[in-house]
Amino acid sequence: MIVVAAALIPVGERSEEQLFPEGVALVTRSEGADAWELFPEELRAMARATLARQREFALGRRCAREALALLGGPRVAIPVGRFRDPVWPFGYVGSIAHCQGFCAVAAARTLPSSGYPAIRGLGLDSEQAVSLSEELVGVVCSAKECEWLASRQGDGLPWDRLFFCAKKSAYKCLFPTTHRFLEFRDMGVRFDAGHGAFDVTLPSLYGTPSHLFGRYLIRNGLVLSATTWMEESACP
Ligand SMILES: CC(C)(COP(=O)(O)OP(=O)(O)OC[C@H]1O[C@@H](n2cnc3c(N)ncnc32)[C@H](O)[C@@H]1OP(=O)(O)O)[C@@H](O)C(=O)NCCC(=O)NCCS
Repeated sequence: MIVVAAALIPVGERSEEQLFPEGVALVTRSEGADAWELFPEELRAMARATLARQREFALGRRCAREALALLGGPRVAIPVGRFRDPVWPFGYVGSIAHCQGFCAVAAARTLPSSGYPAIRGLGLDSEQAVSLSEELVGVVCSAKECEWLASRQGDGLPWDRLFFCAKKSAYKCLFPTTHRFLEFRDMGVRFDAGHGAFDVTLPSLYGTPSHLFGRYLIRNGLVLSATTWMEESACP
């Protein structure tokens, strides 16, 4: 599907189509895929992987090619980068997320087309909607974020998992451009719970914006977070 919603949408009315702004193609699938669907170079990257991992990877590539097709893009291999990052064809960006047999892939054009804005990066993550261990909370969240978590205790949502997911989606959004490793606590997240949105404050990396905008969704026991780096996002 091509996502068509750009405005902030109240929590109860949101669906996967509204995770990204206009011009982003989002494909989600749960059923399996097989290694025979892969291009030779993709297959080579999976040569030593288990069958389960090969199927997970193949499902991601199938969704990615479907997302590119929705954008009128080419049917090509999406090789595995040096740091496991998917290498999208020239003129496209995207992101792949896996969780428990579920796969979601977003892709967009890097140049403006048909009235859609240019997009520099996309990040997508999917996690089980369950709380993190106490130890992991300390790795993921700053003291300020932990204070905010304490203020939301009892509202029934796994906010710590949402911090984890939001930061992972921001990392996936930036990495193909920066090739810089980031720790969770290098990024700060503030949620707008009323609109299912969040803002990520980033460390100053050359050529990247100081903030990224994201949206999240909790559905069918999964948390999904989506981050978009729009061409016009301010750079420091
Ligand atoms: C990118 C990363 C966070 C993804 O974690 P994960 O648990 O594998 O997440 P998911 O299973 O949802 O996503 C896997 C997909 O992410 C994509 N991905 C992997 N590494 C990536 C990277 N460096 N940049 C962008 N996308 C990446 C791949 O498409 C992968 O699927 P595939 O191997 O089938 O193609 C992890 O691989 C990583 O590099 N971690 C080191 C950095 C880190 O953890 N920093 C802490 C803050 S995020």
